[in-house]
Amino acid sequence: MKAAIYTKYGSPEVIQIIDVEVPSPQPNEILVKIKASSVTRADTMMRQGIPKFGRLFVGLFKPKNTALGTGFSGVVESVGDQVTKFKIGDEVFGEKLFSNGCNAEYLCIAENLVVARKPKNMSHIEAAPICDGFLTSYNFLKDIANVKPGQRVLINGASGSLGTAAVQLAKIMGAKVTGVCSIKNIDFVLSLGADEVIDYTKTNVNQLQSQYDVVYDTVGKLNYKMTKNVLTTDGVFMTPVLSCQVLWQMLWNPKKVKFAATGIKKTKELKRLFLELVDFFKQGKLQTNIDKKYSLSEIREAHQYLETGRKVGNIVVVNP
Ligand SMILES: NC(=O)c1ccc[n+]([C@@H]2O[C@H](COP(=O)([O-])OP(=O)(O)OC[C@H]3O[C@@H](n4cnc5c(N)ncnc54)[C@H](OP(=O)(O)O)[C@@H]3O)[C@@H](O)[C@H]2O)c1
Repeated sequence: MKAAIYTKYGSPEVIQIIDVEVPSPQPNEILVKIKASSVTRADTMMRQGIPKFGRLFVGLFKPKNTALGTGFSGVVESVGDQVTKFKIGDEVFGEKLFSNGCNAEYLCIAENLVVARKPKNMSHIEAAPICDGFLTSYNFLKDIANVKPGQRVLINGASGSLGTAAVQLAKIMGAKVTGVCSIKNIDFVLSLGADEVIDYTKTNVNQLQSQYDVVYDTVGKLNYKMTKNVLTTDGVFMTPVLSCQVLWQMLWNPKKVKFAATGIKKTKELKRLFLELVDFFKQGKLQTNIDKKYSLSEIREAHQYLETGRKVGNIVVVNP
């Protein structure tokens, strides 16, 4: 089978498509023929080996795990002899977390990990990126901020993968949502359900007159100091993007400043959030926005586009 790998850190040019053997499922695993896989900001950071202190965990001089791609959707091709939840032909989707290997033609995953039957009302292309934006933003809004009906939530980067998910999820949770994006994405963010939208090229968040219970900066452009005058007394600033500044501010204001790496949450906890998301999708309450689609052989171009920082929603690799 074909698979995307990277054997050294660097630009998209380090990505290679190679031929490898189709993996064989362990007794508790399913073999999935991949129909679509996500290409995410996290993948580009793994490929670049940034932030550099992360190399302590993923490989000091070169990546320990050379496989690429964390989110997938596809069809079960075979099952290990202890598998009880899935059968051949099931359409499934999920995430391989740090074990990667989704930008390929086949993968194996244990049935108790983050994998579920794909809702019938969505395509493989729509399902593949759910574990990036939706799972991350749901973790922040539900488990970290515990957003309550009527609260005011400001989402910076509302047009990205995490942002488009966050706007929809915060609305489901009953919040009043303010999205922050540039002028070209205003109508789109309103169409996701935002109550109001602010153009970041014209207005700085710290100039706003309103007060927010939660400021969720999905793109790492703000920090607590820049937003504390728009937070309520109990308000929190959260971001999925780690920086020295955020770490420092967390140290001094642990109740007000929140960061989390969703991928290292306990699998049981991730699966709980994932299965709740599956229910929302089944009920038609959420939609995945797909900006661009690429073939596996075009994955370098997908990474180049991601690095522009301009994508709207998600991008996916589609297998024939
Ligand atoms: N901690 C975790 O668990 C975790 C998990 C997944 C991802 N992440 C991280 O989350 C971050 C966001 O990922 P993503 O895929 O959602 O981002 P993204 O899709 O790359 O975000 C791109 C969007 O951000 C908008 N944008 C750019 N500059 C902006 C600014 N100054 N203010 C507001 N919006 C701006 C762009 O719109 P315009 O073109 O209109 O500017 C574009 O639509 C990444 O750094 C990723 O590594 C963390």
